Amino acid sequence: MCGIVGVLGNHEAAPILVEALKRLEYRGYDSAGIATVNHGALDRRRAVGKLVNLSDRLVHEPLAGKAGIGHTRWATHGAATEGNAHPHRAGQVAVVHNGIIENFRELREFLAEQGIGYETDTDTETIALMVQYHLSQGLSPREAAATTIAGLEGAYALCLLFEGEDDLMIAARKGSPLAIGHGKGEVYVGSDAIALAPWTNQITYLDEGDWAILTRNSIDIRDASGQQVQRDMRVVNVDAARIDKGGYKHFMAKEIAEQPTVLTEVLGHYVRDGGISLPGETLDFTKVQRLTMVACGTAFYACYVAKYWFEQIAGLPVEIDVASEFRYREPPITAGTVALFVSQSGETADTLAALRYCKGRADAIVSVVNVRESSIARESDLALPILAGVEVGVASTKAFTNQLMTLALLVLKAAQQRGTLTAEALAARLEALRSLPGLVNTALTIDARCEALAVKLAEARDILFLGRGQMYPLALEGALKLKEISYIHAEAYASGELKHGPIALVDKHVPVIVMAPRDGLFDKTISNMQEVMARGGRVLLVTDKKGAAEAGDGVWETLIMPETDPFLAPILYAVPAQMLAYYTAVAKGTDVDQPRNLAKSVTVE
Ligand code: AGP
Repeated sequence: MCGIVGVLGNHEAAPILVEALKRLEYRGYDSAGIATVNHGALDRRRAVGKLVNLSDRLVHEPLAGKAGIGHTRWATHGAATEGNAHPHRAGQVAVVHNGIIENFRELREFLAEQGIGYETDTDTETIALMVQYHLSQGLSPREAAATTIAGLEGAYALCLLFEGEDDLMIAARKGSPLAIGHGKGEVYVGSDAIALAPWTNQITYLDEGDWAILTRNSIDIRDASGQQVQRDMRVVNVDAARIDKGGYKHFMAKEIAEQPTVLTEVLGHYVRDGGISLPGETLDFTKVQRLTMVACGTAFYACYVAKYWFEQIAGLPVEIDVASEFRYREPPITAGTVALFVSQSGETADTLAALRYCKGRADAIVSVVNVRESSIARESDLALPILAGVEVGVASTKAFTNQLMTLALLVLKAAQQRGTLTAEALAARLEALRSLPGLVNTALTIDARCEALAVKLAEARDILFLGRGQMYPLALEGALKLKEISYIHAEAYASGELKHGPIALVDKHVPVIVMAPRDGLFDKTISNMQEVMARGGRVLLVTDKKGAAEAGDGVWETLIMPETDPFLAPILYAVPAQMLAYYTAVAKGTDVDQPRNLAKSVTVE
């Protein structure tokens, strides 16, 4: 996902912009650039690849000026080249943009009719060309920007800079988040508060359709109709400590290790005096007939695990779907349905669109998010924070386990209200959840084993994951973790499904990772493992001591996990899934924190 920054400051803008962009690296990018205005002169520098390349460029070709904008680009329209890197410029205008302008072809046709051509493959350049066109028609920068913005369709967060204007930026937001930072005689713009944390924690988030005329001493926010509006300024304390690796080789390693701590935090947030307390108007699950859960990627697998829990423990029917399918499937939302959305970033475009489909149809919109000021949180009736802290690694780890912990607590709340759990059974489940951070801490000690196994896994071309029951979604998550950071093809199947075709993939070259605590389905899983081993497949069994004892001979490798209540297994067994993926990626030398082609939050369709 692209990152945007801007500053009207009292110091040289270039170093501030580059530092702010570094804090947005976690979003994934493939080129970067900045533009400044210096005594009225507008200029820019851009570079392909990591920010260090842009910094090199600035050493050799410095850019002066105390007003500037910057951008990290994750290519959507047009390859990752310097020419396609932002800021884009047309005459007196420079622009940085996150999102997709869906009507950029029509705008190009209009420009062509005026004899105005374009230089790049990007939709973003069209924004600059349109503003420049309106300037050429005699409009002021503010009027030219307002007219252009009103004519844009699609999703955008953008910031404009003008030749001759040392104290003006114009920012706008529709679909992609944008924050304004308040400084002392300075003003900042950023895709999120993390980018601006070194300079300010006083943040105003633009609402959907807002645009703002910014000077060092004025912030004039307008809504889509052009009416002046006030938006809250809030203090957003981004824990700067959580923005560095803390001595780990990768953010992902640090975030895997943080799980016991953040699991404890989210438990403490919701469990008080032996009971589960939800914020705001507590949901009344006695009135809920059906739960519809929607998300993407890892967040979807958290929903999938929770489906088993809600149905088995709370007796509540649950429908799940990935957001990109749900939003176009147009499912009937019947009375008594609550729609629940899970999203680490709270900005995933498909999930946000699915939420908006449910608005006015579902009885309530509930979200489980890590970013409390995110669009999904703000558009929910009830937003449940997971308190995982800033997650920088593109591959989600601590957010996944905290999503599961939050969902598990919601399940117990539902069971309590629907009377499907006695007070004693509830207390026992809560006690089990309280034990989880300690169990996860113990599980983290398998890292040396995972590192050794990863060297063998790194040689594989294909890897299968198997799981039964609530461990099946965890197998799906394990396959996603592995493929997204090691680039090895990995797939997950419900263990019982293997013989219906996928077993044809099994031979001695294919490691089969089986996620199977010694639970009520273990015996069935043993049979599936035998089917695999009978065909030369190499089984890596992730289980507990009892499971290992019963698995018998022939297992290629075994990873022993602490004994646990089966209810907790999907959360606990996320640790080996994460570690096997992490160390395999390290063995393969891939970019663990920013894997190729991926972004931390996908705010485009
Ligand atoms: C998970 O490791 C991936 N990075 C990806 O699947 C992610 O879970 C998905 O894009 C959803 O993101 P969200 O939780 O921010 O909505």
